[in-house]
Amino acid sequence: MKTHRIALYPGDGIGPEVTDAAVAVLSAAKDRSRAFDLAFERFDWGMPHYERHGRVAPEDFLSTLRGFDAVFLGAVGWPARLPDHITLAPLIRLRQSFDLYACVRPARTFAGVRGPLRSEQPIDLVVVRENSEGEYVDNGGALALNTPNEVALQTAVHTRRGVERILRFSFDLARTRRRRLAMITKSNAQRYAYVLWDRLLAELAPQFADVVVEKLHIDAATLELVRRPHTFDVIVGSNLFGDILSDLTGGITGSLGLNPSANLNPERRFPSLFEPVHGSAPDIAGKGIANPTAAVLSAAMMLEWLGEKDAATSMRGAIDGALAAGNLTPDVGGTLNTAAMTQAIVNQLE
Ligand code: NAI
Ligand code: MG
Repeated sequence: MKTHRIALYPGDGIGPEVTDAAVAVLSAAKDRSRAFDLAFERFDWGMPHYERHGRVAPEDFLSTLRGFDAVFLGAVGWPARLPDHITLAPLIRLRQSFDLYACVRPARTFAGVRGPLRSEQPIDLVVVRENSEGEYVDNGGALALNTPNEVALQTAVHTRRGVERILRFSFDLARTRRRRLAMITKSNAQRYAYVLWDRLLAELAPQFADVVVEKLHIDAATLELVRRPHTFDVIVGSNLFGDILSDLTGGITGSLGLNPSANLNPERRFPSLFEPVHGSAPDIAGKGIANPTAAVLSAAMMLEWLGEKDAATSMRGAIDGALAAGNLTPDVGGTLNTAAMTQAIVNQLE
């Protein structure tokens, strides 16, 4: 029987709360399946580690994680205690060092959960965020620091190789779904970076003639995602735009507490990273009321990536069943706490 070795990085705020929930459902799914085993190792990095050691993760954290089959992260960030660019640095380093260039963020509506939009048409889309370069490359500098003449430079990096591989990935993904691809840029105002995206899309599209392609600027995309979200299938954008759009797609489907993500190295040269789209939610941390759905769906994506498709499908089915039966946490209008919601999901596992 195959044992998948999973590194847990619960992190800060609600991160540990939703990680516990994901581990509980994963363990129950594994026990029912009996087709595979899971070995978890937990790393208490983040604020607790910072308080003891003066850094959020050990210097060699990348080589520690390298030996696992996958990494599961809860959430990081504790802005009241430490600036975000320090707590989030290991996460961004992980994505870039392990070349986790495809960030896959599905968002869909669920029976039993009311979204904020008037239209009742189901939403079922995936945001693919370029995760290795673009606007989040650590590239810039400051001049005349703390003077009235201060200048900050932050330069995005978009490469032909980087853009082409994320476009190919998105076309391939669209082929497994409804064969529609929307590419989001701002090429009317940023005439080097996003014009490269336009040119590469035009170059690749003939190889994927069975996929219907649409191009939108980021401002128009935010409007259209509110106006006609059901028409979108796969949406691809740069690091920054994918980040922004996946909070929006979380919002329109009902709650960020419902949206999972996978940070994939499609060539499998490194372990991939699975985490909810949401952050550490300091406003509800410690109250035990975080919605565990996003974390459990991220865990299902992880099992699928590890080849355990049946167990992943049964986890997703259990979530659908639990939500449809009215098991809801406060973010989606219910009263269940995290533990009760997690139990409701476990009870639905076949
Ligand atoms: P957030 O995603 O943590 O929270 C936004 C809102 O959604 C809050 O009202 C929160 O209560 C709610 N929410 C989020 N997840 C929920 C869940 N599972 N159940 C119920 N409600 C939920 O974003 P925010 O407040 O902007 O950031 C908080 C911290 O998280 C910051 O330090 C930020 O940098 C960090 N962050 C970390 C991410 C990560 O670890 N991948 C991603 C996004 C933010
Ligand atoms: Mg984000």
